[in-house]
Amino acid sequence: MSEPRPLLWGLYEQACVGNGSSAVSLWTHPADERLTSTGLRYWLDLGRRAEEGGLDLFFFGDVLGLYDTYGGSAATALEWGLEIPAHDPLLHIPALAAVTERIAFGATVSTTYEHPFAHARRFSTLDHLTAGRLAWNVVTSYLPGAARNFGLDVIAHDTRYDRADEFLDVVYRLWEASWENGAYLGSKAERRFADASKVHEIDYQGTQFRVAGPHLSVPSPQRTPLLIQAGWSSRGREFAARHAELIFVGESDPVKIREGLDDIRRRAADLGRDPAEIRAVVGLNPVIAPTRIAVQEKIDDYQSYYSAEAQLAAYAGWSGIDFTKYRDDEPLVKQETNHTQIAAARSDTPPLLAGDVRRRFSKVTAFADDRFIGTPEEVAGEIEGFVEESGVDGFLLHQFLSPGSLDDFTTLLAPGLRERGLFGRFPASGTLRSRLRADGADHLPADHPAAAVRRP
Ligand SMILES: Cc1cc2nc3c(=O)[nH]c(=O)nc-3n(C[C@H](O)[C@H](O)[C@H](O)COP(=O)(O)O)c2cc1C
Repeated sequence: MSEPRPLLWGLYEQACVGNGSSAVSLWTHPADERLTSTGLRYWLDLGRRAEEGGLDLFFFGDVLGLYDTYGGSAATALEWGLEIPAHDPLLHIPALAAVTERIAFGATVSTTYEHPFAHARRFSTLDHLTAGRLAWNVVTSYLPGAARNFGLDVIAHDTRYDRADEFLDVVYRLWEASWENGAYLGSKAERRFADASKVHEIDYQGTQFRVAGPHLSVPSPQRTPLLIQAGWSSRGREFAARHAELIFVGESDPVKIREGLDDIRRRAADLGRDPAEIRAVVGLNPVIAPTRIAVQEKIDDYQSYYSAEAQLAAYAGWSGIDFTKYRDDEPLVKQETNHTQIAAARSDTPPLLAGDVRRRFSKVTAFADDRFIGTPEEVAGEIEGFVEESGVDGFLLHQFLSPGSLDDFTTLLAPGLRERGLFGRFPASGTLRSRLRADGADHLPADHPAAAVRRP
């Protein structure tokens, strides 16, 4: 039997104190260091720990507005530091790259509020500075406040994806078509920087964007950085099937994950892409301690610094459902909201009543769904089963306490995972794409839409 594919292990971070998993209020815990995350020292320390611990990816989520759905105001989010201060993740990456050798970086950037020309330039710069260790998490943004911050009306959910398609069409041309192979010379002997006959304007005229080009950067190691996508709605899956190389799955049920990934891969095959080259990672919120008693003590300790209200405010922002408007006995019908539809859809399957959601979020382990809580041996076994059932290719670790949860992972859990062949096998050198792809290529393959814009 052939060896299973190496799993990719990432750390999920946001440049804020109240990180978007179960830990939104745990920055108040005495052992948590996130209040210092406005400074560089915190990040350099975390980056080094992640790399020394053997993780493969340092991932940054990001938002561009406040969480103001809950109770119709941002008061709860501000009081609890919910996903604020939302510092720009991209500015952390060169510093992290300077103190690490191997670990790759993922950064979230919105296609709804950025401009493709500026974005392409920034990501080419980062792909150069990280020697190709770069991924872009393509998001369309779900917070209405973000639209207001950019002077726009809220753009409807599916329309945001249409704009994202066009955004990608523009950046593919800048990254893949503007500078032909061989256009960059960098020759002192010839005294020529570039062969001008091989550098092209893109002259893009779309419905959303008009971009002349040429791209201002010489081709970076990956040209197009590795593309991550997290949409799970029907329109989101269509988008992922077209563009994504790595899916960041927001679902937690392994059977539903397998179904969803099968669906995305089917759609990708219909578009002429090799479905096997679409990989998936899912968030992991483990609570690990040497004994069952120590596990329970850890949960009790976390719980005493946890705020269910802050967590509900986070969930309200993701889903678009304001729970202050529902009585406990009121059913939550499935809603096609303008926010994140997977979060809204969760109300369709149990829990069905607003009170059930409140009860779920009364526990600090709400996001774990009672999984991955136990001794290292128990959790490693669960992870092995979860990989088999869901078909995921890796995990992004969410920390309850930073950096304590990362340390728990690397000291308590990673050794057992390694013994099972589930950790430490992801390639350690080369561009991020070459590490992930079966063929080890640095650039997007011929069946990807980015390849269609390349010059013959
Ligand atoms: C696991 C996960 C992580 C996400 N991270 C971010 C993020 O950091 N920033 C953001 O603006 N959107 C984020 N999103 C939102 C998605 O990118 C997408 O815009 C949203 O889910 C709406 O699409 P959908 O309804 O197709 O799921 C995330 C979604 C999921 C499921």
